[in-house]
Amino acid sequence: MTQEEFYGPAYETMKKAEGQLLDLIALYSAAKREREGVKPVVYCCSRIKTPDSMLRKLEKRGLAQTADAALQEVFDAVGVRAVCAFAEDVYRLVRWLQQQPVLCIMKEKDYYAYPKPNGYRSYHILLKIADGAGKGCRAEIQVRTIANDFWATLEHQIKYKKDMPNEKLIRSELKRCADEIASVDLSMQTIRDIIRENA
Ligand code: GTP
Ligand code: MG
Repeated sequence: MTQEEFYGPAYETMKKAEGQLLDLIALYSAAKREREGVKPVVYCCSRIKTPDSMLRKLEKRGLAQTADAALQEVFDAVGVRAVCAFAEDVYRLVRWLQQQPVLCIMKEKDYYAYPKPNGYRSYHILLKIADGAGKGCRAEIQVRTIANDFWATLEHQIKYKKDMPNEKLIRSELKRCADEIASVDLSMQTIRDIIRENA
């Protein structure tokens, strides 16, 4: 089943919502670059959730397997990820997004302040677009550092199963890597601060 077939007429609005969010973040990044000479957002990516993945999610949550449920009950049919250079850039972008009238923020998940038990660190904003071509569309923006993006991308690819012989070891090694990465992020931020102080 194609995305158009599953999401129906809403698909066009979803594509526009995705574009609107990418434009908004690009605008922020360009303005920062102009004013401060830094590039806070290194790259952005986005996707519309595939029908297969959406159907699995709806089933898991005990929701109707319809486009309506996908659009009204789930926030990440439209997903955008902003990958930042330094740890402070994550919260700066988040604070800026919180102030944008075009975004009606419904929920936030701060996995920086509260990392997941597996070590996952990221900031998630669940929102509804209040105006423009994507008006009414729900979306999820994830903001994280390159280092955390590296970890999350690799962790996502490692399809380890529950009750695998080495499950405990795998979990603890992944957690150790996540914590080392958090420590490196902190060191990089400190190096940047020192350079700034001396500039
Ligand atoms: P889903 O995980 O999407 O079903 O929603 P949820 O309500 O559990 O929200 P959560 O904040 O846990 O996850 C939202 C999204 O964040 C996921 O779809 C992933 O993109 C990402 N994510 C959350 N936890 C992890 C994780 O442990 N590892 C990786 N690689 N990504 C994660
Ligand atoms: Mg989850």
